[in-house]
Parts: sequence; C-alpha cells; structure tokens
Amino acid sequence: MLLLNASGCLDALTAPDVASSLDAFVTKTVTPEPRAGNAPVRIAETEHGMLNAIGLANPGRDVFIRETLPRLRELNVPLWVSVGGFAAHEYAETCAQLDDVTIEVNLSCPNVDEAPDSAAEIVAACREVTANPLYAKVSPHSWDMAETVRALEAAGADGFSMVNTLRGVALDSTLRTKLARGAGGYSGPALKPVALASVLAARRVTELPIVGMGGVCNGRDALELIACGATHVALGTILFADPDAPARVLDELEAEATRAGFARPADAFGVAVGAVANLAN
Ligand SMILES: Cc1cc2nc3c(=O)[nH]c(=O)nc-3n(C[C@H](O)[C@H](O)[C@H](O)COP(=O)(O)O)c2cc1C
Repeated sequence: MLLLNASGCLDALTAPDVASSLDAFVTKTVTPEPRAGNAPVRIAETEHGMLNAIGLANPGRDVFIRETLPRLRELNVPLWVSVGGFAAHEYAETCAQLDDVTIEVNLSCPNVDEAPDSAAEIVAACREVTANPLYAKVSPHSWDMAETVRALEAAGADGFSMVNTLRGVALDSTLRTKLARGAGGYSGPALKPVALASVLAARRVTELPIVGMGGVCNGRDALELIACGATHVALGTILFADPDAPARVLDELEAEATRAGFARPADAFGVAVGAVANLAN
C-alpha cells in the first residue's frame, strides 16, 4: 500500500518534510494556461467538512514543467502529476510533455464552468500519447460508478483515484453563500461513506489499483478504504489541520488492522467487497 497526499492538499515546496514522508507526492492539478483561480472567498468551513472553490489556481503547464517540476524532483519522492484541462486534446498535450512521472487525470473538478469532454474520451486521448502510468481521478457524482470505471478501464486507465469532492453550499449568518462562487467542493469527514461506496463499487468491476480518498482522518478510515478494495490511500483535508498525519495514520493503521483481527493492513484488502458479494448471492 502507498500513502499519498490528495491533489491540491499539500504544497511540497513549502512543506518538503511532509511530502518526503509520503510514498509519492501528487501535485495540484496543472492546466495548459496559468489560472488565477476563483475570486475570494474560496474556502469555508462547515460542521462536518470543508468547502473549497479554488478553481484550479496554478501557474500553467509551461511554468510547471520548466520551474516547478525540477524543484519537485529534488525532493526524491516519486511524483504524480495531476493533469487538468477543458478538452481532451488539452489533457493529452500536457501528458505528452511529462516523462518519468505517474499521471493522474483530473476528470472531476467541480469548480470550473467549462463542460469537459467525456471522461473516457479524455483518458483515451491521454493513453494515445503516453506510456506513463495513468490514473483516472473520478467524481463521486457519477451515477453509476461501475459503468464509469469500466469505460475508463476500456479507454486505457491503469488505475483510479477516487473520489474528488462533492458539490456543496454553505450559508453565512445573513443567509448569503459563504463562497463567492456559491457552490464549492465539499471534502473531509462527511465524504468518507461516499468514498467507501465508490471504491467498493469500483472494486467489484476492476482489478486495477485504486487510490482511495475522502475524509481519511485516522488509521481506521484508511483501513476501511482498504477493506472496500483500495490498494492505496491518500490524505486530503486532514493535512491542513494535521501536517503530521501521514506518520500518525500509518501507525494507527497497523494497530487498527490488529484490532479488527488482521495480522497486517493488507490482509484486510477487499474484505468488505466479499461481504457484499455474499449478500447478493
Ligand atoms: C483546498 C483543496 C484543493 C483541491 N484541489 C484539487 C486539485 O487541484 N485537483 C484534484 O484532483 N483534486 C483537488 N482536491 C480534491 C482532493 O484531492 C480530494 O479528492 C478531496 O478533497 C477528498 O479527499 P479529503 O476528504 O481527504 O480531502 C482539492 C481539495 C481541497 C480541499
């Protein structure tokens, strides 16, 4: 099992020690052109999680490849580059310029207005131009996760990252939306059951690796994702509150596996999927 950060939740250049404590570092999504992102307010806390409408703020592909990527390589941690865009060819153009990294195709950013090409078209376009490992990052809004996963695997995905944020709104005391944009991406503890359901549905139809994420705060959360079929686990919102979470979650994961009756966390892989299959029979 690899422990990663979730895209957009850790700046490796300002927190190199945290990034180096992970098995791989995932960048914030990179788009072809620089993006300032949305106007503030872009972050709001809610009772059970956090809303963000950052809007893919990033320096753009050229600056990323020329300036950011060489500095990230100095961290000596395997790199995953999250690639975004607004049409399949835009994603593919970025993928074609990346060697030596795992590519996570962000198919699911809820904070931009432009309607993307279909997820499978985007993955197919990327597959054509790169032999690098290609992970498809999917939205929890997918109505039929099994169908989505099958289509993305057929299009050439090597693995899945799931899930991205859910769309949400929070109001202030005057009943206006807290975020300037209105809605934003909802992340944190409330997302865990959604992430578990997505991973479990995916694991029933694919044998490809899955990076599970959504509301992981402790070792038990990570173990539950593994039990639903996650091969790897990523930490997102928790990193804002607890930058030391990677080491803590790994420690807790061992203890939680023992408590649940498994010698090692890996022994719990997919056990919840089996339970569902048995119920269905
Ligand atoms: C502030 C913030 C920025 C994010 N930026 C990105 C991004 O650039 N690309 C992406 O694929 N996901 C992005 N995400 C989504 C996370 O990678 C992750 O899928 C989501 O937050 C669920 O995990 P969590 O509940 O552990 O945070 C962002 C999330 C947050 C909170």
